[in-house]
Amino acid sequence: LDNGLMRTPPMGWMSWERFHCNIDCENDPKNCISENLFRGMADRLAEDGWKEMGYDHVMIDDCWSSMLRDKDGRLQPDPQRFPGGIAKLARYLHNRGLKLGIYGDLGTHTCGGYPGTTLDKIETDAQMFASWGVDFLKLDGCYSNEEEQQKGYPLMSKALNATGRPIGYSCSWPAYRGGLLPSVNYTLLGEICNLWRNYDDIQDSWDSVQEITDWFFDNQEILQPGRWNDPDMVCPLSPVYMDQSRSQMALWAIMAAPLIMSNNLRTLSNHGLYTKFTVYSPFLCLYVTLFFLQKRSHIEVYWRPLSQSASALVFLSRRQDMPYHYHTSLAKLNYTAGSYKAYDVFTGKTLSGLSATTEFTVSIDPSGVVMWYVYPRMHYEHPQDDGRYP
Ligand code: DGJ
Repeated sequence: LDNGLMRTPPMGWMSWERFHCNIDCENDPKNCISENLFRGMADRLAEDGWKEMGYDHVMIDDCWSSMLRDKDGRLQPDPQRFPGGIAKLARYLHNRGLKLGIYGDLGTHTCGGYPGTTLDKIETDAQMFASWGVDFLKLDGCYSNEEEQQKGYPLMSKALNATGRPIGYSCSWPAYRGGLLPSVNYTLLGEICNLWRNYDDIQDSWDSVQEITDWFFDNQEILQPGRWNDPDMVCPLSPVYMDQSRSQMALWAIMAAPLIMSNNLRTLSNHGLYTKFTVYSPFLCLYVTLFFLQKRSHIEVYWRPLSQSASALVFLSRRQDMPYHYHTSLAKLNYTAGSYKAYDVFTGKTLSGLSATTEFTVSIDPSGVVMWYVYPRMHYEHPQDDGRYP
């Protein structure tokens, strides 16, 4: 969607995976879907360095609204849980340099049973979101049929544009049509949405991360390169499994996926900080597809070309036994002759003077990854190197 927004994949925080539809503010005031939760997460993004890394959206998911529209047919937030209203929450975020995302559902009800946006309500709701100062809309698709979706998703795109306020637009449409051709028209989606969900909801489990990864890698040729296919939120996973958390980050990054965390930023243990590395400087987001290079001994190698001949490599272990020593060379991974430097994203170490034929070994933990940025010599010896490269 050419609305000038989200030229790189959006980043931020969203409530759904971690907090779902917890509306029990009486017994669980800190974790229920309420303005306090979103203000609290905004504080963390703004004060703990996330914003500087690019995590600048706070996105409300389902269960924010009142069970009824107001007397004029407009959506309204639940008065107990959002006593200040959405506009005030948006101001709170804007004052901290953050953006506010909200959730709607094209259909009679949201998946959680709150009022949905039927076709006749699209303009009203778009106007309401804009008047509140909302910067992003996730439009879910529960309780609507194919025909309504075909009309509704483009209509909302127009209605948002007509408000005059720049509002990022995420469409869940493909996820409700199986995500594949010919049921999904990715060309049209690219014209009307900034990003879209293609597949099932992520769960807080390694199985779920692997299942989603498989789906996206298996179907990558149909996914429009240069548009943001959204494999869903970045989860905390269990703190025991730092490797798996890193793996999710690396895989999402090499897919050029939106990085939308759903975690408790207030209690993130140190390992949770894995998400704090700059993956989406714009140069990382070339409009190209990802390549799957090698698979042997349950190690998979993924590669994405980046701008100026740089590239990203991810070595993923699907093993469950022990750290595996994977021997290869850049030449075996289709790199052309030359001298390269490899930067290990997670350890921060650099390997210089690699020629394409130099054999090397990476040690990959079970369900872990090693992620490299690879730069050809001309980069780091070029006098105009602007320091973007680690
Ligand atoms: C289904 C979506 O895929 C989820 O991400 C979440 O928004 C829920 N609906 C909310 O009910």
